[in-house]
Order: sequence, then structure tokens, then C-alpha cells
Amino acid sequence: MDAHDTLAHFRERFYFPKTKDGRECIYLCGHSLGLQPKTARSYIEEELQDWAQLGVEGHFHGKNPWMPYHRLLADQTAALVGAQPTEVVVMNSLTVNLHLMMVSFYRPTAERHKIVIERGAFPSDQYAVKSQILFHKFDPAQSLIELTPCQGESCLRDEDIDALIEREGNSIALILLGGVNYATGQLLDMPAITRAGHRKGCIVGFDLAHAAGNVPLHLHEWGPDFAAWCSYKYLNGGPGCVAGCFVHDRHARAWGIPRFGGWWGHDEKTRFQMGPKFQPMHGAEGWQLSNPPIMALAPLRASMEIFTEAGMEALRAKSVALTGYMEFLLKQKQFPKFQVITPAAEDRRGAQLSIRLTHHGRDLCHRLTADGVIGDWREPDTFRVAAVPLYNSYQDVYRFVERFEVTLS
Ligand SMILES: Cc1ncc(COP(=O)(O)O)c(C=O)c1O
Repeated sequence: MDAHDTLAHFRERFYFPKTKDGRECIYLCGHSLGLQPKTARSYIEEELQDWAQLGVEGHFHGKNPWMPYHRLLADQTAALVGAQPTEVVVMNSLTVNLHLMMVSFYRPTAERHKIVIERGAFPSDQYAVKSQILFHKFDPAQSLIELTPCQGESCLRDEDIDALIEREGNSIALILLGGVNYATGQLLDMPAITRAGHRKGCIVGFDLAHAAGNVPLHLHEWGPDFAAWCSYKYLNGGPGCVAGCFVHDRHARAWGIPRFGGWWGHDEKTRFQMGPKFQPMHGAEGWQLSNPPIMALAPLRASMEIFTEAGMEALRAKSVALTGYMEFLLKQKQFPKFQVITPAAEDRRGAQLSIRLTHHGRDLCHRLTADGVIGDWREPDTFRVAAVPLYNSYQDVYRFVERFEVTLS
């Protein structure tokens, strides 16, 4: 399979961590922190050089002038999430963007004040939505609905999501779900949820931290009101890299809704007149606050170039095969000691498999790491691994399952 893999050469474009004795690690942790593209350094150095040589003039006369630097990412980011370039912007970090989106799109009333999230949503999302509810002087005990899997199951059922929206829809202000769940790896039916939510008059947003760069997205067509994602997982932008944000075109000129302003969101044509009245840019750029951190955007450009070259369609095809191969091998080792809780259907998952352990705790993850196998642990009992099509091989998957079996026994 590796010999026939037309994407195999991309592996050479990334640095792989090494073990203490100098072996290349089996790195299956792109769902947490993607690997460093070898070109990241030169992208950063280019900007350091312009800064050294041009100082403030780099804003206009650098090789890649910093004033419109964030736009260098707009087309590629739009293509990645299936959006128009004006619907996306790269700014801030994920949780900040979720808050900015809720400032504009969570506007509770006495009749319609609830937010729907999934039970056990990533803690930052839980804290963000609860704090937004409290900020509007509502009570999370009444205003937060947590979608819960059926007894004995790990993933949500479509019909349960549908039924909840149908039942509670008139009191729901916002549905905010992870497109791919961080703990289980379940890929939700985002178009269906968006349709169901909109039918009931709810705002629909997605946290795409585990979806961006992992699964194909068609945000414009699916029609959620907003989405936000980080760029350090499958997008390989580096630790804490600048995040992405999508605002559907239907809100591009929604000047009347509340938003937190900052000078970089102001219409660029008049931004430097330094006037007192805030007139936002149209589209997602109108939610920017500050001038962008160039050194943090540079490695993301390096990675997005590689993404664009590889193409999401080819990456997805390889991803389905790699993950399927991993599941196939794991099933052959099906001890009572573990269970894959990620959905088996390939259109219901991305690259990640979540393996629930019955007889081991975090120590298993530590022992695998010491052995050069990098996945991660989520309490109380789940080991997560992702074979990332951009840089992982079928051999990585084979060797992982081999080491996993030895470590379990
Ligand atoms: C699903 C999800 N939401 C939110 C976050 C928080 O991201 P940040 O720290 O970049 O705000 C993460 C981080 O891993 C995440 O996985």
C-alpha cells in the first residue's frame, strides 16, 4: 500500500520526533498537534529578515507585505472548508473566536435562550457557552442542553439529535456542536443538523477543531451560521497557531448585530483615517480585532501550501483507507481489553480512532510513548490515535498495532 501511495512523498516534508536512542517515532498524534513542515522555518525566517531589513516598512514593502498578510491564507482556507474567501478569516485562537461568534450570534430572549452542546464537549467549549449564558444573566441549569448518547453507547444517534431539535427547537437560541467529537472521533451529519436547526429558527455553529484538515467540509453549501477551528492539529500550523473562523455570507453585511470591535475589523479603506466610528469590513474579516501575528501565520502558510498541493480529496481517500486498515488490524487483536468507540462507518469518522481500555490507565500511554509510539490519553479510559494521510504510512499503522498489542499483554 505504501508503494502505491501517491501521497507517500509528502512524509518527507515533515519533521518526525525521535526517541532517545535516535529512532523515528511512530507519530499518531496529529489530532492533537500536527508535525512541523520542514519549510516552516524558512517561511518564518523570511519575515524575520524583512523585519530586520525594513522595520515598519515591511507592512507595505516586504516580500509578503504584512498589511494584507492574512489574506495570503484566505483562498486556501476557503477551499479547505468549502467557503467563499470572504466567509473565512484566520485570527485569534479557537476559544476566542467561539466567544466572538457567540457575542454576535447568541442573543437569548426569554422564550429562546438555550444552547445545545454535546455532553462531554471539549471543556473550553463548555466553559465558553456557560460563561456566555451567565453573561446574559441566564442560568446554565435551565439554558444549557447537553446531547447525551443512549445508555451504554459512546456516540450520538442522528435521530436523537433530530428529535431534540424538534422537541426543544422553539426555545433553542444556538446549537454549537463539534463537527468531529474530540473524545470519540464521531463525525456528525453537519448539513442535516444545520437544516434541522434552521427549520426551528435556531442559530447553528460548529467547532471544527477536529474536522478542519481532517474531513471534507462544505460550509457555504451546508449553511451553518458560523464555525471556528484551530490550526495546530491537522493543519500543522504549530503550537497555539492562529485559528480560523467562518461566518456565512448571509451575515456578511449584518451591521445591526452586536459584535466586539477592534481596529483590524474596521473597513480597510478607511482604517487609517483613525476615525471614532467603527464600520466593520464586510464578511468574516469584520470580526477581526487586532493586526495579525505574522510570525505565527508564517508556519501556517507553509503547511497550507502543502495541503493545497496534496488536495483534500486525495487526502480523504487515503485517510479512509489508513483508518480502515488500523481498525482492521485492531479487530484482529480484539481482546476483551479494549474497544474502538469511534463509529465504524467511514462517513462517520475522520482519521482518529478512540480506543477505550478496560484494564489499563494512562500508564499504557506512557509506556507506548517511552517505546516511541505517540498517541494521547483522555481521561478516564481512552487512548486516541490518528493516522494522518499527509505524513503517516501504512507501515506506521502496522507497527503501531504491533507495539500496542505487546504493550497491552
Ligand atoms: C474541540 C476543541 N475545542 C476547543 C479547543 C480549545 O482550543 P484553544 O486552546 O486553541 O482555544 C480544543 C483544543 O484542543 C478542542 O479540541
